[in-house]
This record gives sequence, C-alpha cells and structure tokens, in this order.
Amino acid sequence: MLILGIETSCDETSAAVVRSGRELLSNVISSQIDIHKIYGGVVPEIASRKHVENIMLIIDQALTEASVTLEQLDGIAVTNGPGLVGALLVGVAVAKTLAFAADKPLIAAHHIESHVFANILSFPDLHPSFLALVVSGGHTSLIAVDDYNSYRLLGQTRDDAAGEAFDKVARVLGLPYPGGPEVEKLALNGNEHAIDFPRARLKSLPVTNFDFSFSGLKSAVINYLHNCEQRGVEIVIADVAASFQRVVCETLAINAVSASKQFGYSKIVLAGGVAANNKVRETLQIYCKQKDIELFVPPAVLCTDNAAMVASRGYYSLIAGKTAGWDLNAVPNYPIGKNDNTSE
Ligand code: KG4
Ligand code: ZN
Repeated sequence: MLILGIETSCDETSAAVVRSGRELLSNVISSQIDIHKIYGGVVPEIASRKHVENIMLIIDQALTEASVTLEQLDGIAVTNGPGLVGALLVGVAVAKTLAFAADKPLIAAHHIESHVFANILSFPDLHPSFLALVVSGGHTSLIAVDDYNSYRLLGQTRDDAAGEAFDKVARVLGLPYPGGPEVEKLALNGNEHAIDFPRARLKSLPVTNFDFSFSGLKSAVINYLHNCEQRGVEIVIADVAASFQRVVCETLAINAVSASKQFGYSKIVLAGGVAANNKVRETLQIYCKQKDIELFVPPAVLCTDNAAMVASRGYYSLIAGKTAGWDLNAVPNYPIGKNDNTSE
C-alpha cells in the first residue's frame, strides 16, 4: 500500500511516500528556518504563505523521487493538528483537493502521534506496546502506545516544552533560532556540572505523576545571567548551555524511565525535534540501561518534522479502516488519542 504524507504544521513543508507503513520511498523536507531566523522565531503568517508557495512542488518531488503517480496511491495522509492553524490549513486543503480529485481515501494524522512513527520507520521489528517520549518545540509528552491506534497520555509539560526552553535559553545566550542545535553545539565546550540549575519535581502535585515543567529551569538560567551581570562576574556561556542541557536531559530520562517502570513497559521510543540532541539520546540510554529498558532512537532527520512519519501514521489508520471526511479541518489544539478519522 502506498501512502502520500503531507506535513505543514509549523515551519517545514514536507511530502513523502511510504510503502506499507515502513518502507520509505521518498521524504522531501523544505525548511523555512532561514526565513524565520531573521525574526528570532517562527512567524505564523509567513509560515503559511511559504507553505502555499512550496507545497505542490514538494509533493511533485516526493512522487517523482518515489517513482509513484497520484493514481497509484492508496491514500493521502495529512497532519491536521496540533500546530499553527494557518500552516495546518494549507496541508489540509491540498490533501483534501488531491484526495477528492484522484478519488483516494483522505486520512487525518495527529502530529505528535506521527512523531512516534519515526521509530516504526526506523526499526522493522518494532511493534507496540511501548512508551513514547515525544520531545519537540511545542510538546513534551509521555504516551503509552498499546496499539498502532491506541494512545494514552501519561504526562505532558505544564508550561514550556523542552524544545521551547532550548530556544528561549539560546536566545538569552545570544544564539540564533532554532536554539536547540546551537545550545547542543555550544555545550560541547562547556562543563555540565559548572552550575547547579534546579530540576522541577512535580511528583507531589495531583494532576499526574509524570508531567514535566521547564519554565522554572529557563527562569533560573535568566536569573543566573542577570545576577552575574549585576555582580560583574564573567559568564562562561558554554558552561551555562551544558549545565542547562544536563538538567533537561535528566528530567526527561527520569520521568520516562519511572513511567515505564510504573506502567510496566520494557521499551521506550524517543521522537520529536529535541530527540536529535546527542546528549538527550545518551542520557536516556544510560538511564534505560540501568533499568533494563530497551531504548529506540530514530535518525535525526526523522526526529524533526517530516512527512514520512505522517504517511506511516496514516497507513496504520487506513488499514484499521479509519479515514477522514471531506469536512476535515485543522485543529491547532488537538488532544492525543482523539481521532479525526470519522469513518470506520
Ligand atoms: O519536532 P520539531 O521539529 O517541531 C515541532 O513539532 O515543534 O521540533 C523542533 C524543536 C525546536 O525547539 C528545536 O530547537 C529543537 O526541536 N531541536 C533541538 C535539536 N534539534 C532540534 N533541541 C536540542 N538539540 C537539538 N540538536
Ligand atoms: Zn513536530
């Protein structure tokens, strides 16, 4: 079965063709980073316009690279949320139009659930159940995945997402957008134990045991920098980056491993843009090894936003008979586990 995936939820315009959920035939990603860099972050209106300009070219390229025609497809999957509403609408409108014109099933894909499928694409023998840790610019989520179409949120960030914290800390350190890779690079030359930034512990709060919080850590970095400036103390920004990154990594690893033990999962899969970070990968690996948990980490290109993961996610909806109606809409705040594929 051949699925075309379309992804336009933020600042990457992407289209991909995947065979039977796991075999990647093409994955074309056009990043708008250089445009948004000038503004220090993603400008939603510009993102939508660039998607409009690029999307058909990207889809053409994905079909050409896969040597597949529109007619040969078995379905068209599109991210319809969460994300920037204007950006999402571009992908949704294009997917609907192509699916209607070519008489193909339309499949809605949840962006965070799709991130998990970077692992399905990367590891041929991996099947649910497992625990997924999705760490992106907009979300930090721990999800129990018991089946390809069953997602249970066990924990999420109460404030800033991990990627957002990376980006904000990068900005105060004077680094360009997106900050995650810049902080990682800078941290390579720093001492990660130089500064003792706090790690948020939310265990005693009643909502769930496995929520995350990164805004306190971000504020601690800002306060540290102000304090040093006021006292005329020299700031070693590589130490700040490394110390901040260590706390993020420990927070992610401790929560994921504890949840996995509590809920009885022996596998953790990592996904989302922040999963491209080598320190995040290494720290998770160390914690998982200690507790005899198997860790799966996809290649970096599948961790950040791409349409291959959308096509893979869509395949598993389609074979379960779940497709979307022509009234499919963009849903900027789309809860995990809710499915917009209405026909069964
Ligand atoms: O998943 P993604 O591509 O888009 C969203 O769905 O948000 O994630 C983007 C986020 C950004 O915050 C970016 O700074 C972060 O992932 N990121 C990283 C790294 N590469 C991307 N954070 C830390 N280290 C990296 N190497
Ligand atoms: Zn994403």
